[in-house]
Amino acid sequence: MRMLVTGGAGFIGANFVHQTLRDHPEYEVVVLDALTYAGNEASLAPVREDVEFVQGSVADADLVDRLVAGCDVVVHFAAESHNDNSLRDPWPFLQTNIVGTFALLEAVRKHGVRYHHISTDEVYGDLELDDPAKFTPQTPYNPSSPYSSTKAGSDLLVRAWVRSFDIHATISNCSNNYGPYQHVEKFIPRQITNVLCGLRPKLYGAGENVRDWIHVEDHNSAVHTILDQGRSGETYLIGADGERNNREVLGLILELTGQPADAFDHVTDRAGHDLRYAIDATKLRTELGWSPRYTDFRDGLAATIDWYRANEGWWRPQKEQVEAGYAARGQ
Ligand code: NAD
Ligand code: TYD
Repeated sequence: MRMLVTGGAGFIGANFVHQTLRDHPEYEVVVLDALTYAGNEASLAPVREDVEFVQGSVADADLVDRLVAGCDVVVHFAAESHNDNSLRDPWPFLQTNIVGTFALLEAVRKHGVRYHHISTDEVYGDLELDDPAKFTPQTPYNPSSPYSSTKAGSDLLVRAWVRSFDIHATISNCSNNYGPYQHVEKFIPRQITNVLCGLRPKLYGAGENVRDWIHVEDHNSAVHTILDQGRSGETYLIGADGERNNREVLGLILELTGQPADAFDHVTDRAGHDLRYAIDATKLRTELGWSPRYTDFRDGLAATIDWYRANEGWWRPQKEQVEAGYAARGQ
C-alpha cells in the first residue's frame, strides 16, 4: 500500500502519519505539504526516516499528477484551516481548499486512485444552543465563514466527481479536534500556551459557544476505518459526543494548570461566530463498527497540557507572532 497524505505536516495529518506507521509499518507513506505557517516538519521528526516528504502545493496540478500516479490511495488533509484567518484574507482558502481539491480529483480520476476527503462539520453551519438536534449526513449544507464555505465547496466537488466520473471516493466530516501538534492559533493550544507563557487566556464573547471535542487519535482511527470499510460515494460524520462550551473548556484548562478560575480575559467576539456544533456519528458507529477510545475529555486535556509543557521547543517559535496578530485585532 502506497499512500499519499496531503497536509501531513499539519496537526491532524502529522498525527495520522504517526498512527498509520505505528499500525501499518508495511505501508509506504508519501507526504505532500506546502509547509505554510501551519505546517511544521518537526511534527514528523519521530517518523522522518519512514516517510517520503515532498514540499509543494496541492494546487500544483503537475506535481499532484506525478505523485498520485504512483499511489494506491490519497488521504487529503491539506487545507487552510483557521476561521479567524479566513475572515482577514480569504484568498488562500479558495486557492488551497477549492483549487487544491480540484487538482487532486483530476489526478485520482486520471489514474484510478482511491481518494479520501477530510472535511469538517462546519459545512453544516451552526445549531441553536438550546436545540437537542445534531448534524447528520442529511443536514443541508449552510456554511458561515470563508473557511467553512471553501470546505463545503470542496466536498461538493468530490460528490460531483463521484457522480459524474465514478471516482472511488469517500468523505468524512469531523468535529473539533484536540491533542498534540495543534498550532497555537487554535483555541485549546492557545489557552494552554498562554498559561505556560504567563499570559491571560482569551475567551471570545461570553464563551457560550459549544464545540463537540474529539481527540485527534479518534478522528484518525475513524479515517482508517473508513479507508478499510467505507463505501464509495458515502459521507461519514465523525464525532465522539464531546459537546462543551468554551467557558467550560477554559475552566478545565485553568483548573488543570493550577490557575484561579477567573484568570482570563473576555475579548472581541469573532464575526459571524457559529453558536454550536454537534455530531450524530450513528452511521459510522453502526455501519462500520467504529467507536472512540479517548472518551474522558479531562484525561485527554491533561495529557495535551503535558505534551505542550514537554514540547515548548515545538510551539515557542510561533507564539509571539500569533499573539501579536490577535492583539492587533483586539483578541
Ligand atoms: P493545519 O492547519 O494544522 O494543517 C494544514 C496543513 O496543510 C499544514 O501542514 C499546511 O502546511 C498544509 N497546507 C496548507 N496549504 C497547502 C497547500 N496548498 N498544499 C499543500 N499543503 C498545504 O490543519 P488541521 O487542523 O490539521 O486540519 C487538517 C484537515 O482537517 C483540514 O482539511 C481541516 O479542514 C480538517 N478538519 C480539521 C478539524 C480541526 O479541528 N482542526 C476538524 C475537522 C476537520
Ligand atoms: P477554533 O479552535 O478556532 O476552532 P473553530 O473555529 O473551528 O471552532 O475555536 C474554537 C472555539 O473557541 C470557537 O468557538 C472560537 C473560540 N475561541 C476563543 O474563545 N478564544 C480564542 O482565542 C480562540 C482562538 C477561539
